[in-house]
Amino acid sequence: MSQRKLPISPSYNPTIHGDLVSRVNLLRFIREWARAHEISRFSLVEFGVLNGESLIEMTRQLRGGIEHIVGFDTFSGIPAHKVSDLQDHANMPAFAAGSYAGSDLETVKSYILACTDFPSTNLELIEGDFRDSLNEFELETTVNFPLIFHVDVDLYSSSHVALEWIAKNAEDGSWLLLDDYWCYRGHPRMGQRKAFDEVFLKNSRIEATPYTNYKGFGRAFILNLK
Ligand SMILES: C[S@@+](CC[C@H](N)C(=O)[O-])C[C@H]1O[C@@H](n2cnc3c(N)ncnc32)[C@H](O)[C@@H]1O
Repeated sequence: MSQRKLPISPSYNPTIHGDLVSRVNLLRFIREWARAHEISRFSLVEFGVLNGESLIEMTRQLRGGIEHIVGFDTFSGIPAHKVSDLQDHANMPAFAAGSYAGSDLETVKSYILACTDFPSTNLELIEGDFRDSLNEFELETTVNFPLIFHVDVDLYSSSHVALEWIAKNAEDGSWLLLDDYWCYRGHPRMGQRKAFDEVFLKNSRIEATPYTNYKGFGRAFILNLK
């Protein structure tokens, strides 16, 4: 009887694997997590909307509890770099000023509403460079719990402003999803990682506990009041 032959070529695991946590699975868990903690009505704030793809995905997965959505974008792509962004650029050339210029606000809003059936009055899209205006924006947190803050704005300067504001507006048990955490070749003193450390490592109001990496470049944290 002939012996069965084993494959002789070497094998290795592919770099992208199904066992990386997907954003959809993370969002499904966050919905369960909210239910377990009796958080029944909540809001979602996104920095970096582009054409609405991530807002659509999140709205779909959070159906049944999501009542209010706020999204910030220039709607004309990544704004001019600040001096503080310049040293990072060589590590992430894709994040150039003007990149990710998508559709205009009204087109994006119609697209999100058409894909989700979300009530239009509960979807606030805010146009402009929020680095200049975010401090004036007040988030209502008494009726709707601020469940998720999604930061997908690529630059250190934009992330830093968004995270400072989040640290003032998060509640006990809000989630922080950082889409760009492992960009800039993962450098700890560049981009979103740098902004995160500066805002949260010594924050007097909020502490951030890492929960999981997701979607390759992203990292999720749970925020708690001190
Ligand atoms: C990668 S895209 C967002 C992608 C989107 N979240 C998605 O997954 O479909 C990054 C966005 O951040 C926006 N952005 C970056 N810095 C900003 C700022 N300071 N103010 C407003 N928008 C900003 C850009 O305009 C761009 O649309």
